[in-house]
This record gives sequence, structure tokens and C-alpha cells, in this order.
Amino acid sequence: MLLFPFFISQWRAQETMMKEEIPLPSIRRPKDIEIPEVRECFLDVLREIPYYNTIAKKDEAQKYTVSKLKDKLAKDRYSVLCAFTNNNKDVVGFLFNHFDDYTIWLDWIGVRKDQRKKGIAKQLLADLFRTAGVRGCHKVWCDCRTTNEPSKAALAKAGFRRIAEIRNHWYGQDFILWERFVV
Ligand SMILES: CC(C)(COP(=O)(O)OP(=O)(O)OC[C@H]1O[C@@H](n2cnc3c(N)ncnc32)[C@H](O)[C@@H]1OP(=O)(O)O)[C@@H](O)C(=O)NCCC(=O)NCCS
Repeated sequence: MLLFPFFISQWRAQETMMKEEIPLPSIRRPKDIEIPEVRECFLDVLREIPYYNTIAKKDEAQKYTVSKLKDKLAKDRYSVLCAFTNNNKDVVGFLFNHFDDYTIWLDWIGVRKDQRKKGIAKQLLADLFRTAGVRGCHKVWCDCRTTNEPSKAALAKAGFRRIAEIRNHWYGQDFILWERFVV
């Protein structure tokens, strides 16, 4: 009988230790000096992604250069959100978005391959919903390729609803449009 509280306290201590060993990433806007690393993370995700054709990859890579990301952030402080690990140092995920007539368009979300399925996209999306509200927007919307199962799962789990499927669209590829109300 007396051993029971002892086991409980040991179990709690172990649980606390485990939580301390795997800290949650912090989600925040990157500092100017960190933008090259954000670009690298984006390019790493873009290069390995199987859902986009060559022309899509080439054009998307040009849309998010270091200087364009800096300009984007200068115009809207919430337009580039990042997930950092290793004591707030390493970029492991990113989310690009922009204000679109009192809606927020989610341009891109990506998580480093070795960091997936740990809830990082979920955290980035939660911060997007919060900052959409701060910017006076009632809705976030986005697209994803019809074949992108991880993206479809992450969006549906975050409360997005499919609006439509559009075939032979951007870059001649098939997409699903999604929306999620935030207020
Ligand atoms: C899509 C992507 C951003 C998801 O990131 P992630 O950090 O692995 O996602 P999370 O761990 O936060 O998962 C969120 C939810 O989606 C589900 N999910 C994520 N990946 C999944 C997969 N491969 N299969 C099934 N479900 C998946 C998770 O189970 C989780 O649901 P839960 O809350 O019930 O557990 C990531 O796979 C990625 O970077 N892909 C390449 C880039 C890309 O395709 N971006 C989208 C196009 S713009």
C-alpha cells in the first residue's frame, strides 16, 4: 500500500523528464538574420515534395527569396510564421500567408521531413488562426494538390472545409480549395 504513492511520484517525475527532453517548438516570426535559414527550410521542403511539377517548383522557389521574404514581413509582421527547435535556434517549419481583402490566404506550410507528425503544422496553423483574428480577418483559405494526402489530413484536422476541386488549374495541375472560419 505504502509503495503506491512512491510509484506514482516516480511515474510523474519520469513523465516530467520526458516532457523536458522533448520541448515543443516555439512558433514566432523570424528575425531578419534568420530569413536565409527560413529560405533554406522552404527550399528543402520544396525540392523533395512530389506533388508539384518542374515549372511549379521553379516559380515557387522564386517567389520566396530572402529579399522577398523580408519585404513580405515588413508589410505584414504575421505573414511569415516559423517553428524553431533547439532552444529557439533551428527553423524546422514555416507558414507563409498574406492578407487578402479581409481573408487570409495561406500560401505555404511546410515542416522538415525529419520533424513531421509531431504536431508542428498544427501549432503553426493555430498561430495563423490567432493572427488572422488580430488582422481583423474572419477566414483563412488555401489550396493543396489533390494528391497531397499529408496536407489534406493536416488541413482537415485543423478544421478546414473543402470548398471545391479545381482541375487543370495552377501550373496545369489539380487542386482542392479549402476554407476555415476563425471567428
Ligand atoms: C503537410 C505537412 C505540413 C504536415 O506537417 P506535420 O507537422 O507533419 O503535421 P502535424 O504533425 O501537425 O499533423 C497535423 C494532423 O495531420 C495529420 N497528418 C499529418 N501528416 C499525416 C500523414 N502523412 N498521414 C495522415 N495524417 C497526417 C496528423 O495525424 C495530425 O492529426 P492529429 O491532430 O489527429 O494527430 C507536412 O507533411 C509537410 O511539410 N509536407 C510537405 C509540404 C507540403 O506538402 N505542404 C502543403 C502544401 S502547401
